[in-house]
Amino acid sequence: MKSTLSKIIGAIVLLAVGVFLGKSFFSSPKIDTVPMPSTIQYRNVGLSEETTEVAQSNEFNGNIIEVKDGASIQEAVKTANPGDLIRVYPGTYSENVYIDKDDISLQGVVINGEWPTLDGKGEINDAFLYSGNGVLIENFKIINYKGNGVMGQAGNNFVIRNNWIIDTGVYGIFPQYGKNGLIEHNVLSKIADAAIYVGMCDNVDVLHNEVFDNVAGIEIENSRHCLVENNYVHDNTGGLLAFVTPGLPIKTTFDVILRNNFVINNNHENFAPKGSTVGGIPVGTGILIMAADDVIVENNIITGNDNSGITIVDLATGAPKANDPNSEGNPDRVVILDNIMFENGNNTTGELKAIMITQMDTKGPDIFAFGGGTGSTIRDKNKYRTFGLDEYGIAQITNTDDISTMMTPSPVPARSVSKEELGELTYYGVCAGCHAFGTRLIGPPTEIIQAIHNGNPQGIVDYMNNPKNLREDYPEMPPQNYLDDAAKMAVAEYILAMKP
Ligand code: HEC
Repeated sequence: MKSTLSKIIGAIVLLAVGVFLGKSFFSSPKIDTVPMPSTIQYRNVGLSEETTEVAQSNEFNGNIIEVKDGASIQEAVKTANPGDLIRVYPGTYSENVYIDKDDISLQGVVINGEWPTLDGKGEINDAFLYSGNGVLIENFKIINYKGNGVMGQAGNNFVIRNNWIIDTGVYGIFPQYGKNGLIEHNVLSKIADAAIYVGMCDNVDVLHNEVFDNVAGIEIENSRHCLVENNYVHDNTGGLLAFVTPGLPIKTTFDVILRNNFVINNNHENFAPKGSTVGGIPVGTGILIMAADDVIVENNIITGNDNSGITIVDLATGAPKANDPNSEGNPDRVVILDNIMFENGNNTTGELKAIMITQMDTKGPDIFAFGGGTGSTIRDKNKYRTFGLDEYGIAQITNTDDISTMMTPSPVPARSVSKEELGELTYYGVCAGCHAFGTRLIGPPTEIIQAIHNGNPQGIVDYMNNPKNLREDYPEMPPQNYLDDAAKMAVAEYILAMKP
């Protein structure tokens, strides 16, 4: 979730109020539909008998390396070769584990209810960071980190499953820029941004997870071909989110199925850090679809979300500043199939509340849509209390039963990244959570960094290795020394070359 989201939602809703006062505006802007990508899977529903196999990471075919209490997981990774399986026994491991090799499997061994536990003690930034392909991370308890529980950069064919991830800072599970991945059977709680954040990825299944007491539950951002199914998403500020953040290297979110989830009571107070971005998700948001295309919402139980059950908004209207000429900001061809929705909107906040009052209604809707977008459909509008769905036609499909996975039938080739890509990915994956152009997030704006370190990337690297608290009105920056030297120099050079 990036800085603009709160402003966007705020601005959209404010605008909505204005629009209500002068209702004629409503139908005026005609916005073009984005062309439908040929790779959309659900278009094959009913047309294809094809069954899809689930491709997991390569099976382990090397040595088994055992790590016992008192030893270091990172040391085991250093000695491992591609294909090895690292088995970690119960104990407490306070470390940051960086995996930059392909086909490494990390497997916790749970004995009599004792789990191998990675404890960041509130001091260490990240538990697992991988850039290798074919990584498997399963059966770990990960607690008290400041940055991320599991973060991936550009690794394809990943499997992250059966972990508990509690209070690990900004993100819980955050694969970025990966293709073909599986995130299943994890439990995530107390994450200050998104518990599961699928960012700039393709072909990812998110299944059977429980996410609660987070700001955002499961977030599909600038990602394509994702299946979010059978998750229990409760007591977050916002439950399930599919959206586009402008300004990132991948410009689109499309072909996303949100199916068979429980989306319940997402009314948690918003505890995102001050000045951060998800600070603006309205409390009580069940599902949020922003600027994402071809999202199907099917057979979910969506109830007890105090603001609204499903919110569908564009971003071009509300956030001209955040607008990226290469990001199309309308949610097109959203498909709402049968869902069970009740008791949503019982305690609307702020602007939605104001809108509902203009409708002589104190209760928020099950489904709230505002802004541009074309081709969206709904199976049975009369089943729900809706607002802004006048243009929605009747859905042309009744279900998505033919889609059992969005993962690819066999592993995709390993991804390797150039120096420029490494700099870009590191910036968006690590720094952009706290630094952005033109705005103050947790850290100072990127142009300030450029001005201070102009022509001197080594100065940025030195600061990353050993940050000092220079500014009274900012917190301390966590050290970024876990990144390898190539990534540090690449991101420093990338920042200095950036144009606003
Ligand atoms: C968790 C938030 C966070 C993350 C992530 C983060 N920073 Fe920072 N950064 C800060 C804060 C806060 C400051 C201001 C600290 C101060 O002045 O006391 C800062 C300041 C800086 C400065 C200014 C130093 C100076 O000379 O004034 C540089 C350079 C910098 N960060 C680079 C980076 C890079 C590169 C990354 C990504 C690899 C990054 N930061 C990731 C929070 C963060």
